[in-house]
Amino acid sequence: MATSSQLPVMRNTVGAPMKIGVPRETEPGERRVGLVPEVVRTLVGREHEVLVESGAGEAALIPDAAFDDAGASVVDDPGQVWDAEVVVKVAAPTEDEFRRLGPETVLIGLLRPFTDAAVLAALRDSGATALALEAVPRISRAQSMDALSSQSNVAGYRGALIAATELGRFFPGLMTAAGSVRPGTVLVLGAGVAGLQAIATARRLGAEVGGFDVRPEVAEQVKSLGAKWLQLEGVGEASGEGGYARALTEDEQTTQRELLAKSMEVTGADVVISTALVPGAPAPLLLTEDAVRRLKPGAVVVDLAAESGGNCELTEPGETVVRHDVRIVGPLNLPSSLPEHASTLYARNVASLLDLLISDGELDIDLGDEVVSGTCVVREGEIRHEQARALLEPNQQQDSTTETSTDQSHDDQEDSS
Ligand code: NAI
Repeated sequence: MATSSQLPVMRNTVGAPMKIGVPRETEPGERRVGLVPEVVRTLVGREHEVLVESGAGEAALIPDAAFDDAGASVVDDPGQVWDAEVVVKVAAPTEDEFRRLGPETVLIGLLRPFTDAAVLAALRDSGATALALEAVPRISRAQSMDALSSQSNVAGYRGALIAATELGRFFPGLMTAAGSVRPGTVLVLGAGVAGLQAIATARRLGAEVGGFDVRPEVAEQVKSLGAKWLQLEGVGEASGEGGYARALTEDEQTTQRELLAKSMEVTGADVVISTALVPGAPAPLLLTEDAVRRLKPGAVVVDLAAESGGNCELTEPGETVVRHDVRIVGPLNLPSSLPEHASTLYARNVASLLDLLISDGELDIDLGDEVVSGTCVVREGEIRHEQARALLEPNQQQDSTTETSTDQSHDDQEDSS
């Protein structure tokens, strides 16, 4: 049977060709690529021209020849790629890349519009149109474009594997000639996309797993994965908008930390994997130094929120440290550590978004479409997204007149899953 890379590229004759550029990522440590051959093949089949910078897939072990087979033009000159009508990146542009970004370009990527003021200002000043995948509204219709979800799945999986390799004990229970070994115990704090994937992966490795979240609606999902739901009496419900959690009040946070530090599920765990995040705020602090001190010697904490400041007081982002006989891991950019599949899922998210942006073979940024409007954070020098604008102009948030907001409508909330 022919593999997809052996199939001939089918070109149709509808619409004008549109150029889509895929630069090589230059941010240190970034191993993903914006499009993969599978998606390139589909786009070329729809009569678009895809220009891939030579070496763009190298760090994901996707050779230029695979892009070439899929019908892309592999070019050495990054300038050619950045001249395309649409440029697909993973990470936000670096300073050098911003010099190449022209006002006519539509840029798609994980552009950090709510957290990186310098990038946001540069996007605005470039005059380009920027579609940030972080801003895809969380409604059913946009699920296939939700790169935060696809990449969180990768992070959750990797997080559980890191825990298993850092722990000096087994995950599965074993019966050996030298006697039996009890299964490892894993507690996952924050049972969103990454947390549920971490639970599923730790379960597959044979550990006894527990899960906790401030959104009670995820209890059933945790249990359906064969994990135990940790109920902390005294911590209120905190379901927020758009499927996310709301930030806890100071009092609620204090109560939560105290209860977690004393909970048997925490103090008895071999591994704690924390994934708790709140949109537009630093990661909530769940594990204090006191809580770490109460963990078993040899326990492992994998803090998947390290990039946003961490859920553990002793996390050092990007480092693995030992404190109070506990190993604390604060990994950064985990999706990049599984670059082939992370890129594949990401590229499918982008392809789904491109389907919305291209009409009859031509670019059509329809700001009347809720998903396009929500995702398009910058257009023609204007920051269109309320939450992004607040990053640069915190005091003018109230005067907002533009049409988009990360706060989804009530309809959206009901729609999110
Ligand atoms: P996230 O990455 O923002 O947060 C991770 C988890 O941390 C969440 O489950 C959140 O409730 C939890 N959390 C926040 N503060 C906490 C605290 N103080 N203590 C314990 N846990 C805390 O969220 P994520 O994973 O991106 O998505 C959350 C939910 O959004 C998903 O479970 C899903 O229901 C929904 N969703 C909807 C989509 C759609 O409809 N298109 C797409 C993706 C997710």
